[in-house]
Amino acid sequence: MPASAGWVVWIFVGFFSLARSGLTDLRWCVTSAPEMKKCSHMKEAFESVKIQPLISCVTGISVMDCAKKIASKEADIMSLDAGDLYQATKEHELKPVVAEKNDQVGTSYYVVAVVRKSDNSISINNLKMKKSCQSGYGTAAGWQVPIGYLINTGKMSVMDCKISQAVSDFFTKSCIPGAQGVDFPSNLCQLCIGDEQGKNKCVQDSSERYFSDIGAFRCLAENAGDVAFVKHSTVLDNTDGNNASPWAKDLNSGDYQLLCRDGSRAEVSNWKECHLARVPTRAVVVRRGIDGTAIFNLLDAGQKKFGMTSAGFEIFNSASYNSKDLLFKDTTKGFSLIKNQTYQAWLGTEYLQFLKGLDCYSIPENLRWCTQSRDETLKCAAMAEAFQSKNLTPAIQCVSGDNPNDCMRKIKNKEIDAVTLDAGQIYTAGKLYGLVPAAGESYTHDNDGASYYAVAVVKKSSHNAFTINQLKGKKSCHTGLNRTAGWNIPIGTLVERGEIKPDNCEIAKAVSEFFAESCVPGANQQGYPLNLCELCIGHDEGQSKCAFTSEEQYSGYTGAFRCLVEVGDVAFVKHTTAIDNTDGNNQDAWAVNLTSSDYQLLCMNGARAEVHQWKDCNLAKVPSHAVMVHPSTPTSVVFGLLDKGQIFFGADSNPNGFQMFNSTAYGGNDLLFKDSTVKIISTGEKITYEDWLGKNYLEAMKKIECSGAAHPSMVSLLLVPILMSQFLCISSVP
Ligand SMILES: *[C@@H]1O[C@H](CO)[C@@H](O)[C@H](O)[C@H]1NC(C)=O
Ligand SMILES: *[C@@H]1O[C@H](CO)[C@@H](O)[C@H](O)[C@H]1NC(C)=O
Ligand SMILES: *[C@@H]1O[C@H](CO)[C@@H](O)[C@H](O)[C@H]1NC(C)=O
Ligand SMILES: *[C@@H]1O[C@H](CO)[C@@H](O)[C@H](O)[C@H]1NC(C)=O
Repeated sequence: MPASAGWVVWIFVGFFSLARSGLTDLRWCVTSAPEMKKCSHMKEAFESVKIQPLISCVTGISVMDCAKKIASKEADIMSLDAGDLYQATKEHELKPVVAEKNDQVGTSYYVVAVVRKSDNSISINNLKMKKSCQSGYGTAAGWQVPIGYLINTGKMSVMDCKISQAVSDFFTKSCIPGAQGVDFPSNLCQLCIGDEQGKNKCVQDSSERYFSDIGAFRCLAENAGDVAFVKHSTVLDNTDGNNASPWAKDLNSGDYQLLCRDGSRAEVSNWKECHLARVPTRAVVVRRGIDGTAIFNLLDAGQKKFGMTSAGFEIFNSASYNSKDLLFKDTTKGFSLIKNQTYQAWLGTEYLQFLKGLDCYSIPENLRWCTQSRDETLKCAAMAEAFQSKNLTPAIQCVSGDNPNDCMRKIKNKEIDAVTLDAGQIYTAGKLYGLVPAAGESYTHDNDGASYYAVAVVKKSSHNAFTINQLKGKKSCHTGLNRTAGWNIPIGTLVERGEIKPDNCEIAKAVSEFFAESCVPGANQQGYPLNLCELCIGHDEGQSKCAFTSEEQYSGYTGAFRCLVEVGDVAFVKHTTAIDNTDGNNQDAWAVNLTSSDYQLLCMNGARAEVHQWKDCNLAKVPSHAVMVHPSTPTSVVFGLLDKGQIFFGADSNPNGFQMFNSTAYGGNDLLFKDSTVKIISTGEKITYEDWLGKNYLEAMKKIECSGAAHPSMVSLLLVPILMSQFLCISSVP
């Protein structure tokens, strides 16, 4: 079949499917005079060979204006690059239907980070304080992907959505053509060299020699920068004799490597495995209800007639309009029908996430922090003042909540913005209140710091060395109801081991019958047996006995340990608690003379171990505490503020007065953050409460939930099968 017959068939099909969707005239939205001119030439060209439906041209003042016109049926169609497509589809119900095909990887390309092979200490994880070469401000390869990636993974924090400032703080010097003027710190242009005369420095066109992918690579090749963010093909196109320019002619591709997201490096030809993101080409969008296949048929027919070999109108050439990339990109070789016509599928998960990381939608004016006791409010006020003294934004405000659940409810209702919660509470916050993690606590300086261990601490005693199998009838100290180390893990463990046998899922009742007496802060409510609060002491005047908050002196890690020291037989706390409060580490009167060797841990195998042997003698490893927020709160703003704050106030030895991770001055422990926190970390790619808690924790939690009864508990995955069978058979009793 000759090609011409082919396109006649396509036009025929196209016409009917468009006519069916009520379109006889396709209004193309354009944004400039040259584009209007090319559009009217396309209309005439298509008409001259009877391609139907007819095209007409409509002007919009901007890409976003066109998107709006298409959504409101004042126009029908336009083509958009991926970044614009994200913005347009966020606000309007548009769908990508036809992709521009280039000859490289079809309808997409990859963005890579390139370094000199000889700089062998650089990885994707230590780019901070390096020098960067970026093709241009706002471009996918030179800005959106690298900066979005660095923000999204928490490697770069952004305060108050001031992204240019964050980039300026992160890289020592850069060349980012276009990032000049009052809005941009000057080091973003510092590596740029301008034209041969040294003029036009940092402009966003080719008079800046370090502009575009080629320029960014040249910036690396001439040793100006340490890393270049470019398209996957850039290095190979400009090395090994493929570029005869003086700066490029002697370059070898083997002298360069790519930085991979897993921290490794790869040869430049391995871009398919080692890249930051895949970015789709430009695409034609229409509103819902317009048939994409019909659009494809129409454009494909036009392309076959007016593509590369056309003598008259050329669909992929903008030179005769003194411009480039009008209607379509000039390098386009053809069209392809997009199969999954949703913007999510088209942009792809990685790229979409990076764009979201750059997206500064609602920046809150204040960050309202939920405080749950007088002490905590005092520390919060001090933090607000300290942050303000360093001009950190948004400003912190302290708003009180009664207890963790009250905080969650107020965040859900947008009366408050943030609160730090433990894993057990994060589960409730995510599941019942729809909150999401915005930043996490880390208890070590290494990458494994975002977790801790739940342990059972006891006193050392030669005449009463009971084991984990002999806890019945003992006096127990818990950090708080529903909390991970203090409740979910130990109670789950005891249920799993068959020590505690709940009837009808009445866990609290079963616990009260198992231990002789307990202090379970938060169990001072209706429906909870009284002896769960028996050991508690309230605050100095004896009020607030068994309260969930630090008003109860036996609440939290330190409180539960104090309870052990003063009245209990076992405390369910975390691995550092005994160490943090002995050997002079806690100067409070009750703790000042305690010695760590007087305490031991109960191991799962029935043995006892010294308190520093927690790695081998613990009940479970659990995810760390996290700051939880409403899903509409931009998490990068929360992390950005705290990360900036900890530069000044994070270290206990900091000279600026306030200490973020020390609660002593306010008369409490673990206020706002756990005192053992070493640094606040980004939640990175963990964007939901489920991501944060992890599959193991979650599966266990979900499987053992008792609906309609007193209390679920949780455990490590090991415990699940037995726990499940216990709960299942018990709850199936009529
Ligand atoms: C299209 O992509 C979206 C988003 O990635 C996905 O949820 C959906 O299942 C896909 N649809 C088809 C038919 O593959
Ligand atoms: C404890 O957790 C259960 C289940 O998630 C919940 O129903 C209950 O309200 C929580 N209690 C408190 C005091 O948070
Ligand atoms: C701690 O020990 C020292 C030295 O034995 C003693 O003087 C002090 O009173 C003790 N402090 C408390 C609170 O018991
Ligand atoms: C914590 O704060 C108290 C009171 O301000 C201070 O005495 C103590 O040295 C601090 N702890 C550390 C580890 O800096």
